[in-house]
Amino acid sequence: MIEFDAVWINANLATMGHSSVPYGAIANGALAVKDGRIAYIGPMQDLPAFDSLATPLYDVKGQWILPGLIDCHTHLIYAGNRANEFELRLQGATYQEIAAAGGGIASTVQATRDASHEHLFTLAKDRLNALQNEGVTTVEIKSGYGLDLASEQKMLEVAALLAEHHPLNIVKTFLGAHALPAEFKDNADGYIEQVCQMLPVLQQQGLVDAVDVFCEGIGFSVAQTRKVFSVAKALGLPVKAHAEQLSNLGGSALVAEFYGLSADHIEFLDESGVAAMAEAGTVAVLLPGAYYFLRETQLPPIALLRQYRVPLAIASDLNPGTSPFCSLQLMLNMACTLFRLTPEEALLGVTRHAAKALGLADRGVLAVGMRADFGCYAISQPAELCYQFGIKLLRQLVIGGKSCRLSV
Ligand code: NIG
Ligand code: FE
Repeated sequence: MIEFDAVWINANLATMGHSSVPYGAIANGALAVKDGRIAYIGPMQDLPAFDSLATPLYDVKGQWILPGLIDCHTHLIYAGNRANEFELRLQGATYQEIAAAGGGIASTVQATRDASHEHLFTLAKDRLNALQNEGVTTVEIKSGYGLDLASEQKMLEVAALLAEHHPLNIVKTFLGAHALPAEFKDNADGYIEQVCQMLPVLQQQGLVDAVDVFCEGIGFSVAQTRKVFSVAKALGLPVKAHAEQLSNLGGSALVAEFYGLSADHIEFLDESGVAAMAEAGTVAVLLPGAYYFLRETQLPPIALLRQYRVPLAIASDLNPGTSPFCSLQLMLNMACTLFRLTPEEALLGVTRHAAKALGLADRGVLAVGMRADFGCYAISQPAELCYQFGIKLLRQLVIGGKSCRLSV
């Protein structure tokens, strides 16, 4: 008899793996876990014999099981909020105008610099809990509201503390090149030098899994982004960028040149950028929350991305300025409604493709040997997760083979 740590039966399984069946679905399925990994997944009738008296058994009665959701782009460690800026934008000011006048990212930087580790931890923990309650099991968190060594380090230390004390899996990204701090006004090159010096220091402390740059007119140029990427490459760290969000500078092609993980936002991406990403295996991370909240009108080049078979991921971009939405499920709906993704594409975007966007090969699909991260949902078809919002659909969440407590 085979030994399992726990078994789920009578499940509809959306494996999200490569399959000729939509969602990689398996009806009347079973899933078994051993040592935090999936040990069996397939039809009920092929489930190997196991000691049913000694093994916890969950009869999910036809519920759907999906891989744990992955939010591959967030800025969820920050203090303060920008409701005042929201009001200004409602009166006609643009995001760029507010940034140029010293508001925007700079105001969150001030609040975050002033906040203690404890305060940032508490704020971020509540955000993680909200994501977890929807079925999220892995979250990427960026620094970028510190913009000096001590404050960037503080943000990444809070991310490391969350990784230690919260059940969710955390990936830490250094986004020192997010905005120009006031101390470096008119000296972006000087600040980029500083960023390049911060990187090895932070990496040595185990605080950096990947490196991101805001490559944009109100951020940093392609040449400056290249400097940061070169240091990252020398340290063996993968790169990604906020690129082509407000204009087409060529940041995505630069990410591709470095065989980077992802180019994110990409509303203004052109065909040569799409081709470069396809060639390099760089993932396109779509952020419909920011598109919606900034009332952008330029759609990302979805048809081209499909044509070139660039994997599409969807993320919340949770941040106080452009996407104050602590919900990946809302992003699923927005990806379909605003970007016309199919529900299957959207769900791949928060599972298999989001895992690829983080360079994680051990999750995002349900298959033997993968991490046992999955959610059981009271739905009759996977598209329901994209279709409705605000109704609690998650019934059980398992991370690393362990059932987690969901807060109400
Ligand atoms: O992903 N584009 C730059 N960074 C964030 C916004 C950060 C902010 O406004 O606080 C984004 O949209
Ligand atoms: Fe972002």
